[in-house]
Amino acid sequence: MRHLVRMVAILGVVLGLTSLLGAMAQAQTVGQISGSPHDLSSLTTTTDEVCVFCHTPHQAQSQSAIEAPLWNKAIPNSALFTTYDSTTIDGTILTLGSVSIACLSCHDGSQAMDVVINAPGSRGVTPTTGAELDALAIGAIGTITGTAGNLGVDLTNDHPIGVQYGGFEVVAGTQIDPDFIGGAALQNATINGAQRWWIDTGATNIGTRDKNDVIFYTRDNGGADQPFVECGSCHDPHQGAGVGTATGSAVNFMRIANTSSDLCLTCHVK
Ligand code: HEC
Ligand code: HEC
Ligand code: HEC
Ligand code: HEC
Repeated sequence: MRHLVRMVAILGVVLGLTSLLGAMAQAQTVGQISGSPHDLSSLTTTTDEVCVFCHTPHQAQSQSAIEAPLWNKAIPNSALFTTYDSTTIDGTILTLGSVSIACLSCHDGSQAMDVVINAPGSRGVTPTTGAELDALAIGAIGTITGTAGNLGVDLTNDHPIGVQYGGFEVVAGTQIDPDFIGGAALQNATINGAQRWWIDTGATNIGTRDKNDVIFYTRDNGGADQPFVECGSCHDPHQGAGVGTATGSAVNFMRIANTSSDLCLTCHVK
């Protein structure tokens, strides 16, 4: 009988732990790639790897060729793109580059999305241009799920990218164009010798850059390092699955949910 009581108690603890672990596992599935529109392994039987469509640990594009980490894809020709400009823009607009060119290596609709430089398994490296993993199943973006994801090379109808944040006036942390959030809210830090900028969102990790912050990409603007808005300022390509969380909206890989236009108001004073 005592054994039975103890066993029931242990079972209770185990069940409690299991549901706790279940809850934790659930929390961890928020904003992941698996099962999201960026999970291209779901379109092919040639690999069940998820990251390989974008990254590889070795033989990736060199960092001088593209700023995206360990990039496993052919790089589009940035000269082909036209980005947004208007009479009221204050910030400098640079040639398409930085992380945006990485997103556009699929979202311009020109190359098959399973083109990779370093295929899964040993060998299989096709430097610079890459080669397709499954030509029969995975094509270019417009051919898969409709045209919304296909931005093309004419980006004049898309939010500006490669644009200097708030007509930035060089000195880190000072007030910028009053049309934009600046002052102390515009965080900056020197990380590994480079100046980085971001705006904290949410209540946690204030003062530290994290994936639910709106982040800027440091680019050289006439010899000065300055913060620029790129695709990755608003989007985190890894936060896809997991529905309707306050941080990182499931839909559209947003860094923060755009509830009441919160995302827009992280940068714009409107
Ligand atoms: C659809 C393309 C895509 C896939 C798939 C993808 N990534 Fe990324 N990843 C990117 C891009 C683009 C960046 C650069 C984004 C940035 O600057 O924040 C990046 C950045 C990163 C970074 C550095 C910045 C950060 O946010 O931490 C890490 C680490 C990373 N990826 C790991 C992974 C791993 C691990 C996987 C697989 C589970 C994966 N990625 C799958 C596109 C992808
Ligand atoms: C390896 C190819 C690839 C790369 C690289 C890539 N994407 Fe995607 N992306 C896709 C595919 C495939 C879809 C799903 C297409 C669709 O729904 O029409 C998608 C969909 C999206 C969507 C819409 C999601 C939805 O719920 O409908 C957003 C937003 C997005 N990507 C942003 C980005 C950003 C930002 C980057 C760079 C940081 C990036 N993507 C890089 C392949 C890619
Ligand atoms: C200033 C913020 C911002 C920037 C910069 C930005 N996006 Fe988006 N993007 C959004 C928002 C917000 C949505 C959701 C729009 C909606 O609800 O229809 C979105 C939606 C998308 C979609 C889904 C399209 C649709 O309407 O279903 C894709 C694909 C996408 N973005 C890719 C990109 C790529 C690639 C870049 C860089 C070239 C980029 N985005 C830059 C804010 C941004
Ligand atoms: C990461 C910061 C950031 C976010 C988030 C952001 N923007 Fe912007 N936006 C900018 C910058 C920087 C410019 C360039 C403005 C300039 O230099 O005058 C810009 C330009 C614009 C323009 C063109 C202005 C012009 O003068 O032609 C519009 C419209 C706009 N944003 C709307 C939005 C909307 C709507 C959202 C939310 C979906 C949004 N922005 C989110 C930074 C941001």
